[in-house]
Amino acid sequence: MRFPFPIDAELPLYLAPMAGVSESPFRRLCRRFGADVVVTEFLSAEAIRRENKATLAKLRFAADERPIGVQIFGADPAGMGDAAALVTEVFEPEFIDINFGCPVKKVVRRNGGSGCLKDLDLVQTVIRSVASHTHLPVTVKIRSGWSEEMRDPVTIALRCQDAGARALALHPRTRTQMYSGAARWEEIAAVVDALDIPVIGNGDIKTAEDAVRLQRGTGCAAVMIARGSFGQPWIFDQTRALLEGKPKPPAPPVEEKFAVAVEHAKMAEQYEPDPRGAAIEFRKHLGWYVKGLPGSAELRKRLYAVESFAEIEDIFGEYLAGERSEPVAVGV
Ligand SMILES: Cc1cc2nc3c(=O)[nH]c(=O)nc-3n(C[C@H](O)[C@H](O)[C@H](O)COP(=O)(O)O)c2cc1C
Repeated sequence: MRFPFPIDAELPLYLAPMAGVSESPFRRLCRRFGADVVVTEFLSAEAIRRENKATLAKLRFAADERPIGVQIFGADPAGMGDAAALVTEVFEPEFIDINFGCPVKKVVRRNGGSGCLKDLDLVQTVIRSVASHTHLPVTVKIRSGWSEEMRDPVTIALRCQDAGARALALHPRTRTQMYSGAARWEEIAAVVDALDIPVIGNGDIKTAEDAVRLQRGTGCAAVMIARGSFGQPWIFDQTRALLEGKPKPPAPPVEEKFAVAVEHAKMAEQYEPDPRGAAIEFRKHLGWYVKGLPGSAELRKRLYAVESFAEIEDIFGEYLAGERSEPVAVGV
């Protein structure tokens, strides 16, 4: 299936847009570990249009992240168009993605994100406006509907395609479900059947095996991984190996995991202007990297208290030294 921008893979693996997570350092790391496409977290069209400093700062990305999509949200077609024009002119990503999936109250209250799904005429007007303000391909990310009663992913997807969306990612839950229940992968298969544009399957991929099952079971043109990448960016390389019929490379040993976490931390330190704030924001990643390790509760407690990046290497070093000298006691 042809994507509307060049990608080096027949079956691309996407790092999902994630607020507070799919930021430049993590996107670069995931690209290095085999993600073929990355997307920014969702950014308010209104804030972009007003040239809000914090929002524009989040639009910065590095050359090694490409191909990259910038995701915008908003329910005002003119504002969405203006934001798309500014992003195109100043940042030149490979594509603009429109968020029709965000379930957060603050966003849907003003009909942004999945709030738009209550009004498919509005969805189409927004897509048309964005497409008419950029020469870049416009893609969309949707949920299966606003509520159970309004659940109709095929109709929503067809309306998006008709309005000019060039690829569509489906997270097959409704807004009302938020993250409860299971993602209904059969809805991805139905949308794949109905659409001519590439469909990107998303939802509940926790392992490389899940990613392959989702792709094989639905025929989707690409898979998108969100929470499954937390603390394990190598899930992309593992998925690629399985898709190619090769054995799955094992997760790295603990020393290597820590080295990846430190590399990630160093990129975050370089990228963020406020080192203390950035270190505090980074704590969540540290928690994800050490999940499941022996003695991880104690280790996590220490990592959740860091206020500078320098502390991270010391804590990891002490953990490894303790593990080597008292292998039996760790985790007891
Ligand atoms: C912390 C977090 C932030 C998210 N932020 C966004 C976002 O900015 N834009 C978006 O389209 N989806 C966002 N999502 C939804 C994910 O992209 C994805 O659709 C959802 O998590 C289901 O995929 P998963 O089961 O692989 O996590 C977010 C999800 C999480 C967990």
